Amino acid sequence: MLRTRFCEVFGVEHPIAQGGMQWVGRAELVAAVANAGALGFITALTQPTPEALAKEIVRCRELTDRPFGVNLTILPSINPPPYDEYRAAIVDSGVKIVETAGFNPQAHLPDFHRAGIKVLHKCTSVRHAVKAESIGVDGVSIDGFECAGHPGEDDIPGLVLIPAAADKISIPMIASGGFGDARGLVAALALGADGINMGTRFMCTVESPIHQRVKEQIVASSERDTELIFRSLRNTARVSSNAVSRDVVRILDEGGEFADVRDLVAGSRGRKVFELGDPEHGIWSAGLVQGLIKDIPTVGELVRRIVTEAVEIIDGRLAAMTLPA
Ligand SMILES: Cc1cc2nc3c(=O)[nH]c(=O)nc-3n(C[C@H](O)[C@H](O)[C@H](O)COP(=O)(O)O)c2cc1C
Repeated sequence: MLRTRFCEVFGVEHPIAQGGMQWVGRAELVAAVANAGALGFITALTQPTPEALAKEIVRCRELTDRPFGVNLTILPSINPPPYDEYRAAIVDSGVKIVETAGFNPQAHLPDFHRAGIKVLHKCTSVRHAVKAESIGVDGVSIDGFECAGHPGEDDIPGLVLIPAAADKISIPMIASGGFGDARGLVAALALGADGINMGTRFMCTVESPIHQRVKEQIVASSERDTELIFRSLRNTARVSSNAVSRDVVRILDEGGEFADVRDLVAGSRGRKVFELGDPEHGIWSAGLVQGLIKDIPTVGELVRRIVTEAVEIIDGRLAAMTLPA
């Protein structure tokens, strides 16, 4: 067993989280993560309405009696979703943990805290982590350049980002981006984190509600098989490399604008990738860690394996390296 401040503050057995994942973070996966003693997050905006989110939370409760949370991703948008209504649905549901991501979560904190909800804010830079701590979040999740989805624009990998953040943060902090096995967990703890957050690795499990062929594509992919799209728009996203994402990179590199790639990057096409099992159908997030992913275990097997092997590394390989003074 491994116990860290993250386990204490967020009330989970293992220092492992499954961050929000659009189209993937549904009740089946989140409940499996909770049943394995880790912290899963239902992705609020995967649900078309706040009412649908409330139903998804009920569905998750039917599958587990252990704690889980909800991810609220706050992105600047011309037609923003009704964030206040999603927040109200979360508060009313009685869920006690929220992962915020994207924009500054300050506007949402008073309601969450009044309801006794712990907020874990996910960010991609030390300055944003410091800001999040200063406005009163309960923990931070720091996402390095390796991560699937939005790594920010600073391009700082975890090896530097995690200890740099640990030096400045006093609330519990988990490391995110590029984690998929026990070696990563032990490394994160050594770098000053209190646990890890994983996206791509949890996406590639039995309970993950996406098509088997996409999971097999992750297993077949190497660490070189991702693309960084939207660099020139300063809204970088790390996604699986396929003909669509390579086209998006080429068009923007040649001076194209968002309007030129709008159809290629449509969320509905990405969603169909997961439903139809055609990895070439659209844009879908995946991280560098896919190069380390060799199987499709159940969530329970995965969490057990990571925790057991982490203890073996600490008590075995690392302990054997220390000599009496
Ligand atoms: C398919 C997919 C969808 C994601 N969607 C979201 C999202 O909607 N909101 C969010 O905060 N993070 C999202 N993420 C990021 C993850 O929560 C997590 O931070 C990231 O995957 C960590 O990097 P890793 O994939 O290397 O573990 C997504 C990741 C994946 C793989």
